[in-house]
Parts: sequence; structure tokens; C-alpha cells
Amino acid sequence: MELQKDSIDFNTDYILERKYQFCGHHLCISQSSDAQLGTSNFIWEAGVDLCRYIEKQNLNFKGMKVIELGAGTGILGILAVLLGGNVTITDQPNVLKQIQHNVTASIPMSCRDRVNIRALSWGCDHAQFPSDYDIILGGEIVYYSKTYPLLVSTLQHLSHEKTTIYLSSKLWPDFQIHQFYENILPEHFDCELVNRNEEDNINVYKVIKKSSSSGDQL
Ligand SMILES: C[S@@+](CC[C@H](N)C(=O)[O-])C[C@H]1O[C@@H](n2cnc3c(N)ncnc32)[C@H](O)[C@@H]1O
Repeated sequence: MELQKDSIDFNTDYILERKYQFCGHHLCISQSSDAQLGTSNFIWEAGVDLCRYIEKQNLNFKGMKVIELGAGTGILGILAVLLGGNVTITDQPNVLKQIQHNVTASIPMSCRDRVNIRALSWGCDHAQFPSDYDIILGGEIVYYSKTYPLLVSTLQHLSHEKTTIYLSSKLWPDFQIHQFYENILPEHFDCELVNRNEEDNINVYKVIKKSSSSGDQL
């Protein structure tokens, strides 16, 4: 649930602040004024939709090892921490300051030992991360076809057959998003559509590694 829209944050590094409530927790998410951040300094509707799905399904992350990919503002990873997970929130190096800002604003001190913010560029440095995550989260990270093989290789490295991956995507035209979910991902993962937001054309997928698919094959 979005509580309040577009209040101005007078800290000039952050131009927009939105407040959300999911699963009884309050989240305060700001967007950086740094135009260099590109797609990272928006709160994407697909990410918010995945938060709504987590709330609707009453998903519990207690004690689970979770990683968020392409976190942007960090909204999904922050919710996972508030729901009890041990969470690594990742994105490209220049985005980490924005994530840190939102973590500080939304996660009480008592939970901060369960959050870790780290740089992870798909297909490049995933080998520095373990392969035993329980949950992998990605909101609106499927939109640029050149990165699809990189993203798949990172998902393969981070996951095992008991890992549950949740990805949400707005089905933008011309970005070959169907191709990713219907052809590319199913080479190594079983991919189930678990929620469809018709109004905004956003899908949530639950993705599980196929038993024959080992890591780092791409
Ligand atoms: C459209 S934004 C989505 C942000 C956030 N997940 C949300 O739902 O609001 C896509 C994010 O993916 C990240 N990203 C794009 N390509 C990446 C790559 N090759 N490696 C790591 N992150 C990447 C961007 O930096 C950006 O933060």
C-alpha cells in the first residue's frame, strides 16, 4: 500500500520520498537526484507489485538467506529484511549510496545486522557470492536484451534447486521480455507466472532451477 505520494525531501541529494506500508511494516523510499543513476533512481511499479505479491501471499523470510539483484532503491530487499530475512541487496557500484540511504531510513538499528549492501554486476562478479541463497528477488530487471545472458548466468551461479526466485516485469513492448521468460530462462529454470496485474501489464514469476542445470554454464 502506498501511503503518501511524492513528498519533497529537503536533503538535495534525494528529490522524492515515498512512504509505503507492506505486511504491517513502514518503508520510506527516496530517489536520488543524481541523473547519472539512470534507471536506478526510480521506484519501478513492477518492484512495488512484487512487494504487493509478497504481502498478498504472506511470504515469510525469517531466517532465510536472500539476495536482491538490480535493487535500485532497494525496496524489495528492505521489505525482505523487515520480514526476517538475512538479505544482501545488490546493484552496480554507483547505486549503493542510494540503497544505503533507504536502508538507513527504513530498517531499524535492531535489524541492520541482517542487511548487507554489495556491488554485483551480472555476469561479471557473481563468483564472489555464494550459491546457497534460499530466495532471489528482482523487480523490473528484465528490460535490456543484451544483459539477459548475463542475468541468467548470475541466477545460475547464485541458486540451487531449492532456491525460489521471484521476478516481476512490466511487459514493455519491444524489449523482448516474453522472449526472456518463454525461451531464454526456461533453458535452465522452470518459470511459472504467479500473478498478473492486467491494469498495469505487470507479471510476477516464480522461478526454480531445473535439476539438470548446474552453475556458470553461460
Ligand atoms: C529498472 S531498474 C529496477 C530497480 C528496482 N529493482 C525497482 O524495482 O525499482 C533496473 C536496475 O537494474 C540494475 N542493473 C541493470 N543492469 C545491470 C547489470 N548488468 N548488473 C547489475 N545491475 C544491473 C540497474 O542499475 C537498476 O538499478
